[in-house]
Amino acid sequence: MKALLHIWNAGESLAGRYAAVAAHLRANGHEADVVWGVAPTELQLAGYGMALSHFELPASVRQQLPGKVFGGRRWTRAEQLLALDQAGFPTMEWQTVNSKAAALALFDTWSVDKLIVKRSFTAGGNGFHVVTPGQARYGDWDLSRDIICREVNPNDGNTYKAELFNGRILISFVLKKRSLGERLLAGALDADGFRRLEVYRNPLERPDARHRELFEFPDADKVALRQLSRRMTDIGLGYVCVDLMRKPDGSFVAIELNLSGVTTWWTEQAAFVRTRFADAVLALVQTL
Ligand SMILES: Nc1ncnc2c1ncn2[C@@H]1O[C@H](COP(=O)(O)OP(=O)(O)OP(=O)(O)O)[C@@H](O)[C@H]1O
Ligand SMILES: [Mg+2]
Repeated sequence: MKALLHIWNAGESLAGRYAAVAAHLRANGHEADVVWGVAPTELQLAGYGMALSHFELPASVRQQLPGKVFGGRRWTRAEQLLALDQAGFPTMEWQTVNSKAAALALFDTWSVDKLIVKRSFTAGGNGFHVVTPGQARYGDWDLSRDIICREVNPNDGNTYKAELFNGRILISFVLKKRSLGERLLAGALDADGFRRLEVYRNPLERPDARHRELFEFPDADKVALRQLSRRMTDIGLGYVCVDLMRKPDGSFVAIELNLSGVTTWWTEQAAFVRTRFADAVLALVQTL
């Protein structure tokens, strides 16, 4: 079979990864093209037996090869968390609300001194905001697509990432962060009425072991992550990343499901990711 591997706006690391996948497919009797720079809406799949994209793929592309197209989807935060729920995967506590008053009432309902507002269709940490009781003002939120979340653990800011494809964990690691309470800055709110937070690392510096390192989940969590991956691939998602945090009782819950654009320079530092990914794509191709 002939596979199309699609890159849109990613960097060298993903290109190198796809080249390795294509070589592995060819070595095992398949054909593969790495397609660069074509907008996802313009993809033509005639002649291909499967397509894999790191970007969001519209229905018009998926319809060209039903059940054989794997890539991102444009889901709100609520849609991501509901998909995790439906897959039986534990998630943080969250809600959608239809008024700002209903959102602020959650301070009492949950007995908490912080609420997290998460916006949909944002990237790179820009969609995450904290509000506290008694602020001078609260900004306007898009309540049709934002969600309100409870802090997973006031004593632990560490955030875990598991990158998944075709029933496998490709890499898992921890971002070492201080808790939100320790990061809240006193003083003026930002322009949107949110609390200012100290950043956990200088964004211009490449992260190192002070900021993140490989992390192995306990066996039971690995089983759950692999099952989740199986399910997400079966419904046509591509390479996804689940973000998790650890509750005070030690269990892990998902806080986000990243659906596209997941590959980063950092995960390419682990050479095994390419091999695992190439094996995962070959295994998928062999079932189609
Ligand atoms: N429920 C929560 N409790 C405590 N901290 C949280 C919670 N949800 C998110 N965070 C913190 O906020 C960060 C950003 O949240 P999230 O991953 O959901 O959004 P994002 O804006 O898409 O971020 P990114 O794309 O950078 O991962 C997390 O990495 C974590 O440190
Ligand atoms: Mg995240």
